Amino acid sequence: MFEELDYQSLISRTFTELYGSSPAIVVRAPGRINLIGEHTDYNNGFVFPAAINREIIFAMSPSTRPDTSLFALNINKGALVNHKKLVPKSNPAWTNFFTGVVAGLQRRGFEIPPVNCVFGGDIPNGAGLSSSAALEVGFGTALTQLFGLSVEPWDIIQIAQKAEHEFVGVKCGIMDMFASKMGKKDHAMLLDCRDLTFDYYPLQLQDHSLLLIDTRVKHSLASSEYNTRRLECELGVTVLKKHKPEANSLRDFNSFEVEELADELPENVFRRCRFVTGEIERTQAAARDLKKGDLLAFGKKMNDTHRGLSADYEVSCRELDFLAAEAARFPDEIPGARMMGGGFGGCTINIIKKEFEEEFKRHIELSFTKQFHTAPNFYDISIQDGASVIS
Ligand code: GLA
Repeated sequence: MFEELDYQSLISRTFTELYGSSPAIVVRAPGRINLIGEHTDYNNGFVFPAAINREIIFAMSPSTRPDTSLFALNINKGALVNHKKLVPKSNPAWTNFFTGVVAGLQRRGFEIPPVNCVFGGDIPNGAGLSSSAALEVGFGTALTQLFGLSVEPWDIIQIAQKAEHEFVGVKCGIMDMFASKMGKKDHAMLLDCRDLTFDYYPLQLQDHSLLLIDTRVKHSLASSEYNTRRLECELGVTVLKKHKPEANSLRDFNSFEVEELADELPENVFRRCRFVTGEIERTQAAARDLKKGDLLAFGKKMNDTHRGLSADYEVSCRELDFLAAEAARFPDEIPGARMMGGGFGGCTINIIKKEFEEEFKRHIELSFTKQFHTAPNFYDISIQDGASVIS
C-alpha cells in the first residue's frame, strides 16, 4: 500500500518539523464500508460493516504547553484545544472531534494532559466512508496508548460516538466507530446493535471485488435529515408500542407487524418503519447468503436495500439513484449495488466481477459526466484491520 506508507512518513516528518522531535507514538484508524444494514444501528438492528484500506494516521507526543496543539495535514491548518474548557466550537469546527474525545475520557475519570498531534490521511471527506469516526477512534486510541490508560475498545467506541452526538451534532449510531476500531483484515462484521455482540465473516467474493463510486455530492442536508430520520423512527416506536408495550425500538417489531399497523402511523413514518424492519431482516438473511457463498442472493438484497433507502427512507439523491440504476443494467457482472452510509450523497458500493471492473468504470465515467457535468471518483477497496499502533 504505497499511499499508506507515504502518508505515514509525511505525517511523522511534519510532526518533527513542527514540534522539534519525532513523535512518541504513531497510530492509524481506518474508514469503513457497510455491506448491508443501513440506518439500522440506531434502531437496535444489525449492520454488516468492514474497515478499509483508507485511513487517518496520527503522530503524537505529550506536550509541555497548556493546550493540545493539533495540525491537520490535509488542510494545512493548526488549532489549539484547551483541556480546561472542553466545549463545542463553530470555528474551527473540526476541533470538535478531538475536544469531544478528550471530554469523553475525562468524564470517565482520566486526566488527559495536553498533546501535540499531526494527523492526515486518504479517507475522502464527505464520501460516507466515516472519516469522522476514524478521527475520533484514532485520536482516542492514540491518547489511551500514549498515556497507558486502561480503556477497553468498547469504551473508545462509545466515547467516539458521544463526541459525535454532543460535539459534532450528529446523532449517529454505533456502526462507524465500531468498524474503525474492531475491523479485521479480509472480514466483515455482523454486529447486533442491541446487545453489541458480533461475529467476523470471512469476506470471500470469489472472482468479484468491491468497488466504491463516489458521486462527490455532499449535501448540507445530510446531518439535519439524518437526525430527522432518527426522530421519525422514534415516533414510529411510540405509536407501535401501544400494541407491544415491552418494545423499545424498531428491532422489537417485524415487517408484518408494521404493515398491519400501517393505518395508525403517519404515511412517511410508516415508510420509514417499513424500511427499517425490512432492512433488519434482510441483513440477517444476507449474512447467511454470504456464509453460503451465494453472492447472487446477497447482491439481490443489496439492490433491494437501495430501493428501500431511495423510495421509503428517502435518503438517496439523483446521482446515487443513477449509479445504482446503471449497475442494475449488468446483473451478470454486478450482482449487487446500492448507496452506502447516511445518504444524500457519498458513494455507492458495488460487488462487481473483476474482469468487468475497468469497462464499467469507463462506462460510468462517461455516462455520469454526461448526465451531471462532473466526474465521479472510483475507489478500489480492500478490507483491513481496525485502529492500531504503527510505531
Ligand atoms: C451514518 C451513521 C451511522 C449509520 C449510517 C447509516 O454513517 O454515522 O451510524 O446510521 O449513517 O446506516
